[in-house]
Amino acid sequence: MKEYKTLIVTCALPYANANLHLGHILEHIQADIWVRFQKMQGNKCYFICADDTHGTPIMLKAQELNITPEELTTQIYKSHVEDIKAFDISFDHYYTTNSPESKELVYDIYNKLKTNNKIATRNIHQLYDEEKQMFLPDRYIKGTCPKCKAEEQYGDNCEVCGTFYSPTDLIDYYSVISGTKPVIKKSEHYFFKLSECGDFLDNWLNRNNRLQQEAINKMHEWLSSGLQDWDISRDKPYFGFLIPGTTDKYFYVWLDAPIGYMGSLLNFCKQNNLDFQQLWNDPQTEIYHFFGKDVLYFHALFWPAVLKYSGYNTPTSLFAHGFLTLNGQKMSKSRKTFINAKHLIESKIPTNLFRYYIGSKLTSKVEDIDFSLDDFVFKVNSELVGKFVNIAARSSSFMDKLFNNKTATTIKDTSLLNRISSQESEIAEHYTNREYARALRLIMSLVDEVNIYVDNIKPWALAKDPQQLELLHEVCSILINAFRLITIYLKPVTPQLALDIEKYLNIKELQWSDVHSLLLDHNINKYTHLITRIDTKMTENLMNLAQNEVTLQTTATEATSNEITPSSQYEPIADIIDYDDFSKLDLRIAKIVNAQYVEGADKLLQLTLDIGCETRNVFAGIKSAYDPATLVGKHTVMVANLAPRKMKFGLSQGMVLAASFDDKNSGVYILEPHDGAKPGMRVK
Ligand code: 2FM
Ligand code: ZN
Repeated sequence: MKEYKTLIVTCALPYANANLHLGHILEHIQADIWVRFQKMQGNKCYFICADDTHGTPIMLKAQELNITPEELTTQIYKSHVEDIKAFDISFDHYYTTNSPESKELVYDIYNKLKTNNKIATRNIHQLYDEEKQMFLPDRYIKGTCPKCKAEEQYGDNCEVCGTFYSPTDLIDYYSVISGTKPVIKKSEHYFFKLSECGDFLDNWLNRNNRLQQEAINKMHEWLSSGLQDWDISRDKPYFGFLIPGTTDKYFYVWLDAPIGYMGSLLNFCKQNNLDFQQLWNDPQTEIYHFFGKDVLYFHALFWPAVLKYSGYNTPTSLFAHGFLTLNGQKMSKSRKTFINAKHLIESKIPTNLFRYYIGSKLTSKVEDIDFSLDDFVFKVNSELVGKFVNIAARSSSFMDKLFNNKTATTIKDTSLLNRISSQESEIAEHYTNREYARALRLIMSLVDEVNIYVDNIKPWALAKDPQQLELLHEVCSILINAFRLITIYLKPVTPQLALDIEKYLNIKELQWSDVHSLLLDHNINKYTHLITRIDTKMTENLMNLAQNEVTLQTTATEATSNEITPSSQYEPIADIIDYDDFSKLDLRIAKIVNAQYVEGADKLLQLTLDIGCETRNVFAGIKSAYDPATLVGKHTVMVANLAPRKMKFGLSQGMVLAASFDDKNSGVYILEPHDGAKPGMRVK
């Protein structure tokens, strides 16, 4: 007999200070497809999420809006829940980290870590805003880069030259919150002794399928470079849970956020009369977390170690996904290409179509995926509408006019249906392994086989011959059954479409095991339209919605800051130079033979440039503007005789030329020569 599993599955908790965007939706869809598949298999699955409500940005956002953090997070919660519902994300529970359950578990875990001697206190020195009376995280400090003298750089690294420094290295540094110069102040902080957890983590990651290969590589890097203790406290004012025994120290949001997974489940257990401790700690329970690659560090190092040393079951596997780009570019508020879930919903494009497209791009790897709007329209129209739904449409009028919408009592030739059901275990394996792109390709190849069968057997010709009516009835019944079987396979990806098809076929909720049965002598309903083709006008409308949203936001910011006038974006023309000055610059056409993200760098991409006579390694501050994959193979212009510069990530041997206004809000654009320019040509 099949053994059913018990699973706890989570998505990363979205911050409660902004609407959900396409990136969140990607992750929720990825996890939801997996969960729906598990549930269709009969496994018991608790699909859990919550809003991540604590931390400085949420506190400051509430101050800016003149409301309490609780009011802000309550508003955002409603908006998140609406969006989740619209995308058919089937969380069993969506809660908040600002809850009694989270607090109870944070305290419980903290006390156990203390008992296990995994908490230490230490004095640290940090910049303090005397006017606002608060310590400043690095991103709340700005100043002039000590290296290249670029103004308005953040406290951690320079966006222009890429140098890393500590905030006090900045020239004329100031607090972004009050505009005043912060002072250095001492404070006692609480640390989780991660430095003592190396051996445990080394062992932990060695279990089969614990992590994806890319994540294992990262873990080895982190473990071999030595783990530092983790600062888990923040001084008041802070929106979070007070550390027991103190009056002015709070738990850092990243300590309580993953505990929020448990808090949400605990609340669910209370409502459903389940024993939370038993459920989480049962060795048979499997725990899976879906999240983006940017938060791997928190999930793969801190989280298992915190669970281990507080006596809780650690995750069975972690599933990190890559980032999402839109038409090959990073979504950008300034370029007005930032798509929120609300825009997708307001575009009126059925959300199951986005689910299908995203599913068709997802693999088990930690790789970025591109949402191309043209490809989306093409794929959905040709595969879901043109091929899949077409199967029902091709039999529906005969079923209605000739057979009273009743399937045949027997099917003599079951070869096509056997062929479809024989693919069940391979499709199931792809879903289990989160290889949705493969699953959908296989499913669509079956759809193709069905359409070829129709083309060959020509039901429209059979309909003209009264002698062939019995055969036509069998053919139509085969098509209805093929449609039903393929619906089972597609159901984790397009649940709403599956529901509409279940209504049309007049059947109860399809389960995975239904793939072994047929609908014989069964009354179906009269066919009604299931999905309509979409067109590029709809995706243009979607982009307009995104564009209008940003326009409104920009207007609001400008109205309040009142400082940016249109002409201020133009830098004054620099002092006159003569040709000799210019000729000192050796500018060359370079072919970008490779481009990649730089681990740990917020702003940089690493480019490998072919300049004919040699190959150069260059770090360029263009990460916010480009997906590296879109740059490979393009030509650009580089300064080839700039002194090489040693950076934290390696040697940068020159720079590429890029255009931008000073404020960078209008984007950064690297130069590209006209066709015909070859690597190594000099630009003069
Ligand atoms: O990066 C983020 O959006 C965080 N709010 C994710 C938290 S995931 C978990 F650990 F709670
Ligand atoms: Zn700089």
